[in-house]
Amino acid sequence: MDIEAYKRFWRTTVEDYIGFWEKEARNLEWFRPWDHVVEKGEHPFVFKWFVGGQLNMSYLCLDRHAKSWRKNKVAYIWEGEPVDGDGKPLSIRKYTYYELYREVNRLAHVFLSLGLRKGDRAAIYLPMIPELPMTMLALARIGVIFTVVFSGFSAENLAIRVNDLGAKILVTADGFYRRGRLINLKEVADKAVESTDVEKIVVVKRAGNEVAMKEGRDFWLHDLLRTVPENLVVEPESLDSTHPLYVLYTSGTTGKPKGIIHDTGGYAVLLNSTMKWVFDIRDEDVYFCTADIGWVTGHSYIVFGPLMAGATIVMYEGTPDYPTVERWWQIIERYGVNVFYTTPTAVRMLMRFGNEPVKKHDRSTLRIIHSVGEPINPAAWRWLFEVVGERRCPVGSTWWMTETGGILISHLPGLMLTPLKPGTNGLPIPGIDAEVVDEKGNAAAPGQRGYLVIRKPWPGMPGPPTGMWKEPERYRQVYWEKVNGVFFTGDYAVKDFDGYIWVAGRADEVLKVAGHRIGTYELESVLVSHAAVAEAAVVGVPDEIKGETPVAFVVLKSGYQGGGEMAQQLMKYVRETYGAIATPSGILFVSKLPKTRSGKIMRRVLRAVASGGSLGDLTTLEDEAAVDEVKESYEQLLKEVRRGG
Ligand code: WT7
Repeated sequence: MDIEAYKRFWRTTVEDYIGFWEKEARNLEWFRPWDHVVEKGEHPFVFKWFVGGQLNMSYLCLDRHAKSWRKNKVAYIWEGEPVDGDGKPLSIRKYTYYELYREVNRLAHVFLSLGLRKGDRAAIYLPMIPELPMTMLALARIGVIFTVVFSGFSAENLAIRVNDLGAKILVTADGFYRRGRLINLKEVADKAVESTDVEKIVVVKRAGNEVAMKEGRDFWLHDLLRTVPENLVVEPESLDSTHPLYVLYTSGTTGKPKGIIHDTGGYAVLLNSTMKWVFDIRDEDVYFCTADIGWVTGHSYIVFGPLMAGATIVMYEGTPDYPTVERWWQIIERYGVNVFYTTPTAVRMLMRFGNEPVKKHDRSTLRIIHSVGEPINPAAWRWLFEVVGERRCPVGSTWWMTETGGILISHLPGLMLTPLKPGTNGLPIPGIDAEVVDEKGNAAAPGQRGYLVIRKPWPGMPGPPTGMWKEPERYRQVYWEKVNGVFFTGDYAVKDFDGYIWVAGRADEVLKVAGHRIGTYELESVLVSHAAVAEAAVVGVPDEIKGETPVAFVVLKSGYQGGGEMAQQLMKYVRETYGAIATPSGILFVSKLPKTRSGKIMRRVLRAVASGGSLGDLTTLEDEAAVDEVKESYEQLLKEVRRGG
């Protein structure tokens, strides 16, 4: 497909984005049609999509298929991590659309009988087991707003989210398996709820490990389900299009995590359309997305998107390298996967083991491959294209973020496939006015680095009532103020001469560690909460596999000794207080942090020291600090770090 033809079409969809998205919305089944396509909400830059329209996400994902020929089509193929002596998975569970429909109805009944009603909030802290999507769908069915908390997060991180959302019910599991190790999840959940108002905990039995159950507060899910008839039906609530489906917390530059609200109608429309355009999803397809449902990728493209599309979805509990690095290729072979959605970090990790582990397994079913979460380097792209996809499958790097709800920039094999280029994100999808601009909002010249912004509202954007849970003002400041009146993504990007967008990475103090979004500020707060730490500054340094890893500069309180033992202790502390994904790859002890006269930490100096690089070009340094001052701090710090801090 030639680029100009796509761009001509795209321009018409952006110019009349309202008409365009209205047409897309007609592809869904609505209980009541909308009166207006898009309207401004009560708060600035919070838009309401498909106002007056009513629908239900669980209905779109389940009832529709259960009433059709897809009734006995497999919805989920779930594979647990543990294997037997021959490396064969010990547990595989399959759910047809009808079975999933029935399970979700029974679960919805359980939640109703626990007292949950439309508009209430619940938190979900579950590993990658079928009960996770089932719980999300059951809550969506009765209009309960939920937040999913990644099962690798600490008790502290869970408590912050539960409290911010005001969740009264928590759904968790006894334990799960990660790289062969049993993780006692209930223990973490118990610790978290101590500082919350959670009244009831529903516990899924997954691993069978011993857990403490508190009488009157904790309930085994299988006990609650025991008396619920197999074919019990809970009618889906007819929900306003603007009703919040879920809140998902994500890291920003400052403060506590931001609770991004996603609505029901707009979000459903974006997912439904991108499933077709980006993944070209077809009824005979087996679709495998390797993300964790704890992140937005899993919400949109393991649960709601592919279920709405009626696909057969592979869901895997564990890591790609357990028991060997062949695991994903085995899964692709075992189920005949056609569409594969993965991440650059995993690809870089698996590449190191050469082509043999891949080639041993049949991948002839693969048709489309995409990656997500961070920029993909050309070498990793080539490996996916040449080795994994045998030069047969288009490989893309879909750009989006928690806030956008779904994919906004991507190759579109299901619509019009423009020529591939290793490493690019491609052109904006139809209806999305993505642009690379300077500080003033003027489009940057091709090849020039600028900020990635979205200039027109889109379905799937942060939803009513406040965009960010309880923080409308922060929502406006973070996303709509930096470049006047357009949505600021926080990413640096370059547009090439074909109009392809290449996202280069974050333009703010947010790290992308193995694709996970971690605020340096959050990590610094964790470190200074340790008794030995007076001050801390965290920067990201390039990492061959993870893209980027955190390195911490720490000033200790007097009476504490730096060195290996203290570094170990602090790393353990971060793991326990935040989660393993944020563990620093290095801790450097210094006597003071380099700061400008106005007291701002010179992060550029820290980054240069941490990555062993040079300070680089100082001519662009604005009034942050005098050039000499920066150089001096750099040399001072280098000396100190080399001395063995
Ligand atoms: C940030 C959003 C989107 C779901 C997973 C991440 C980076 C995401 C790409 C890509 C380059 C990417 C951006 C963005 N990012 N996809 N294909 N190429 N960078 O969601 O945790 O909200 O992170 O991930 O920096 O801002 P998230």
